[in-house]
This record gives sequence, C-alpha cells and structure tokens, in this order.
Amino acid sequence: MSDKATLEINGTSYELPLVVGSENEVAIDIKTLRGATGGVITIDPGYKNTGSCESAITFLDGEKGILRYRGYSIEELAEKADFLEVAYLLIFGELPTQEQLDKFHSDIKHHSVVDDDVKKIIEAFPKSAHPMGVLSSLTSALTAFNPSSVDVDSEEEMYNAIVRILGKFPVLVAWTMRKKHGLPLEYGDDSLGYVENVLKMMFKSPNKEYEQNEILVNALDKLLILHADHEQNCSTSTVRITGSSHAGLFVSLAAGISALWGPLHGGANQAVLEMLEAIKEDGGDTKKYMAKAKDKSDPFRLMGFGHRVYKNFDPRAKIIKVAADEVLGDLGVEDPILDIAKGLEKEALEDQYFVDRKLYPNVDFYSGIIYRAMGIPVEMFTVMFALGRLPGWIAQWREMRLRKEPIGRPRQLYTGETYRPFKTINER
Ligand code: ACO
Repeated sequence: MSDKATLEINGTSYELPLVVGSENEVAIDIKTLRGATGGVITIDPGYKNTGSCESAITFLDGEKGILRYRGYSIEELAEKADFLEVAYLLIFGELPTQEQLDKFHSDIKHHSVVDDDVKKIIEAFPKSAHPMGVLSSLTSALTAFNPSSVDVDSEEEMYNAIVRILGKFPVLVAWTMRKKHGLPLEYGDDSLGYVENVLKMMFKSPNKEYEQNEILVNALDKLLILHADHEQNCSTSTVRITGSSHAGLFVSLAAGISALWGPLHGGANQAVLEMLEAIKEDGGDTKKYMAKAKDKSDPFRLMGFGHRVYKNFDPRAKIIKVAADEVLGDLGVEDPILDIAKGLEKEALEDQYFVDRKLYPNVDFYSGIIYRAMGIPVEMFTVMFALGRLPGWIAQWREMRLRKEPIGRPRQLYTGETYRPFKTINER
C-alpha cells in the first residue's frame, strides 16, 4: 500500500501522508492541509471519520466485536482480573505485580477521605437533584480542597493526583446516593477491597452491620471493568479536550461526567429501565412495543438495542448477559420489569427487522437490569458508569498530557451572514 493519499483541489494535487496504527488501521494525516492549500479544512460533524489523537490505551473493532485494554481482551480481563488491576493497567500501561498492586491500593486508601466541608456542599443540594449533576459539581469542588494543578513532568505529582481521585471518587459516588435517600454521609472501611468498600459506603444502614454479598461484589467488579474505557467516546474526548487547555485532572473529569450524563451516552442505562417501567405501566405488552420500534412513523426506539460502533455484537453485552443471569438466579430476584426485559430480548433476537439491521442488545440493556437487581436506584445508574469509566478518563488525560498534545481547537465552516452595516435601534 502507498504511504500517501493524493487530494486534488481545483486542479492542484496535494500529497498527504498515511499513518498506520498497530492494528493496521489507516489514517490520512491532514496536519499540513490548511497551510498547504491556503485555508481548506475538512468538515466532519460528530467526528465519525476523524481521529482526534493517536492512543495506545484501548483498541476496538466494531465489525469483529473486539475490545482490548492495552492489548488484553475484555473477555480475559473480566474473567481473570479485578477492577483495580484493570485501572492500573489502563493508566500505567502494564498489569501490576502483586507489590505494585498492593502499593496502589494502599495509596488509594490513604486518600479515601474527603474534606468534611464537602458535606456542607452536599447538604445544600435539594434531594431532587440528579446525582450526575451533584457528582460533577462535587468532583469540580475537590479542586478547592486539593491542589488544582499537577506538574505533569513530575511522575510523583501525577501519581499522587491519580491515587487521590481514585480514593475520593467512590466517597462522592456513595454520598450522592446517600444524600438522595436521607442517609448519613459516612466513610467506608479501609480493610475492604475497592469494590466491597463502594458497596458498603452506598448501602450501609446506620443501625446495622453491612453484610457483603460475594455475588454483588463480583457483578459490580465485572460491570466496572466492562465500562472502564472505550477509546475516544463523547465523555473521554471531553476529558482530553478539557485537559488540553492544561486544566487540572479533577475539573477535566468533572467535564467528562457532564458529557456522560446524556441519554445518547451514559444516560442510556437509565433510559432502558424507564422504558421497561413504561411498558409495565402500559400493561406489559412487549409485542406492542416491538411493533412501535419497527414502525417508521413512530419515533419510539427499543432502548438498549443497537450500537454506533458494534454492528455484529457488543462484546461487553455478551459478558454482562452471563453476569445478569447469574446475579438474578443467585439472588432469586423476581421482578416484572426483568420479565419484560427478557421477553423483549427474546422477541428482538428472533425478529427479522432486528436481525436484518444487526440490532443486538448493547451493554446498557443488561447493566441496568443488574443494577436494579442489586438495589441500585435508577437515577444512580449513570453514576455507576462514571465510577467504572474513571480509570479510562484518567488514563486518557495522562496520555494526552504526557504526549504534550496541543490545545484542542477545532475549526468550522462559517455559514452565517456576511458583512452587513450596523443598524441603529430605530432602523431595525
Ligand atoms: N430500535 C428500533 N430500530 C432501531 C434501533 C432501535 N433501538 N436502533 C436502530 N434502529 C434502526 C433504525 O431505525 C434504522 O432503520 P432503517 O435502516 O430502516 O432506517 C437502522 O436500525 C439503523 O439505525 P441508525 O440509527 O442508523 O444506527 P446508528 O448506528 O446511527 O445508531 C444507536 C446507533 C444510536 C445506538 C441506535 O441503535 C439507538 O438509538 N439505540 C437505542 C439507544 C441506545 O441503546 N443507546 C445506547 C448505545 S450503547 C452506549 O452508548 C454505551
């Protein structure tokens, strides 16, 4: 294959280098385009054809259903690693030795207390506040209590900022839920594993001991691993572009949380459960909703089905489906919403419309079901997604800063009015 692409504009040819990734993906390098052509730019709303960076963190192939973190398959990681090992892998590039993992966990635990004044901020939010808005605000607020800028050339400062946020974030996650439920804002227990501690902080009732349930711990661990990174999606790109102005790590993460909130991104897991609730309220007739989803004059879509990148299957959905079956079976959960979900899944997988369009259940279809079975309230689903995505955002922010990427500043094609003289107020 040639190592150049040729572009012809008004009879003049321009040669643009081709760049090849480690999985043989090919990109046209247009860095010199505007200068060479005297101002021509490319336009690609939604960046469907545009690589925003080179990255060595996550590889995904939507056609083949492949997802790998730092070269390791998501299937193997979900089966053999725990969330903290995966976090270490994503951020630092290699699986940790036992010694590295112990130190990482101990450093995170050292930082798992937030300034008590953060409670005053939480108290000021109404109970009706959506937890994602609260989480984003609290993550930003951490900059007021901790150094806001990191000297990225200092490995030590970078490491400290990373373990600090990994320690404090689960506290913020738990407190956003406890505030909503009127529970006291308590700390976790340093003797526990990372995920066990998250569950205890979220669910511990003030008047009794919290009993760990291994099934829930394993299910949450898997869910967090599956959500830990997904290359340059909307929230991750937001974290990178925010950090590209040399804004600090915590505020860059707060921006990512806001981006994740939307129903077209992380908010889809909440939308799935709301759809299932609506079907139940309407009598539980799944066939009626299947017909609505296929009716082109009806805007209704089956939430949790289809994916922009994965067109054959979502590898995360495969893993999570098994986990969902285990959790529901082991917990002996009986819930009409879950019956509706299973009914829809079965019908859609056998339906020609869905088969022809390669519409399979995505990760959000099952994650909402597991979270519900675990007793996590619907409005916390996207917060749990954020907890899982945290190491991915950190890894991408770190990579962007270490590669000394320039500030993100897209161009535009202006389509507004050309020059017109100002009209005084009486002339308008
Ligand atoms: N229900 C019914 N029909 C659907 C659905 C659905 N969920 N998804 C796609 N289709 C149909 C479209 O109507 C279209 O039909 P046509 O070819 O007859 O016009 C065809 O399938 C292709 O759909 P597109 O919208 O072009 O597919 P695209 O790749 O752009 O969209 C998306 C992917 C946004 C995920 C879409 O499938 C969807 O809206 N799904 C429901 C929302 C959802 O679950 N989002 C979470 C995604 S996972 C994540 O973000 C972590």
